[in-house]
Amino acid sequence: MSKIAFISGGTSGINLGIAKGITKRGGKVLVFGRDGEKAAAAAAEIMAETGGEAVGGSADVRDAAAVAALFADAAQRLGAPDLIIAGAAGNFMAPASRISPNGFKTVVDIDLLGTYNVFRSGFDIISRPGSMIAITAPQAVQALPEQVHVCAAKAGVNMVVKVLAMEWGQAGIRVNAISPGPILGTEGVDRMAPTDEDKRIWANQTALRRFGTVEDIANAALFLASPESAYITGTILDCDGGMKLGDASGTYL
Ligand code: NAP
Ligand code: COA
Repeated sequence: MSKIAFISGGTSGINLGIAKGITKRGGKVLVFGRDGEKAAAAAAEIMAETGGEAVGGSADVRDAAAVAALFADAAQRLGAPDLIIAGAAGNFMAPASRISPNGFKTVVDIDLLGTYNVFRSGFDIISRPGSMIAITAPQAVQALPEQVHVCAAKAGVNMVVKVLAMEWGQAGIRVNAISPGPILGTEGVDRMAPTDEDKRIWANQTALRRFGTVEDIANAALFLASPESAYITGTILDCDGGMKLGDASGTYL
């Protein structure tokens, strides 16, 4: 596999795991977030661990012009990408009565507008055939208390994926999403399931009775980026241990 991948949010957690999966197999990556130093450290970690080529960059996905400028620069350094991953997101747990309009907007802007900005800039430079992958979440289709902002944003992400798949298929670009279940050792899980008891309940809400790993999600991304998935577009791929087969009240307990 020889991929050149630009990954928003690739500086930590799930998306960093995907970046490592790509460089382990001979690909090159741009990983970026808001924090340039964190991105440089992530790129160094990727290169040290996998021996592959990685560049760290800084852009806020809410700023379309900043994303476009970063992509133009990275395309000069690494070559035109054939894989774009929109993985950056923000989350906090709060009941709607304690979320201000700006709190709601902040998460919608990072997750939904940010995904659009990354895909839209990617469209201008991606080589074809090319693949785009959004990292969505179960909240896109399952209502969850204290997550109104994330549910709204990720539901929008799923529709962006489906519409762009329809529009860009004829241009040789496939657009899909991965919906991870709870992934151990990530910021997302630490924020939503901070205690051991939370984690026990969450694990039991999956059919496989375990948390996922970043490698589980990396493997799903590698599949969606590969020619083996050449006829798959507009799909939301659940990689969640069967979490959605039950319901949020703990069907598997
Ligand atoms: P994480 O480690 O907190 O990573 C978030 C990444 O996004 C970081 O690289 C962060 O870098 C970047 N970021 C945040 N705001 C940004 C902005 N405005 N502009 C550019 N970059 C920004 O998160 P994670 O838990 O691994 O989650 C990764 C993805 O998986 C997210 O899309 C999340 O919704 C999804 N997901 C996670 C889980 C889970 O179990 N963790 C489950 C389902 C779905 P900076 O801070 O430097 O900006
Ligand atoms: N409860 C309620 N509102 C909150 C909140 C919380 N726990 N955390 C932040 N907000 C509100 C703020 O009060 C603010 O609204 P206000 O101006 O009306 O007071 C708004 O959200 C923006 O906060 P700010 O800190 O300025 O946003 P930011 O752009 O610097 O950071 C976040 C975005 C809040 C999502 C931050 O948590 C973040 O950077 N997250 C990235 C990492 C992450 O979430 N990883 C998990 C991915 S699943």
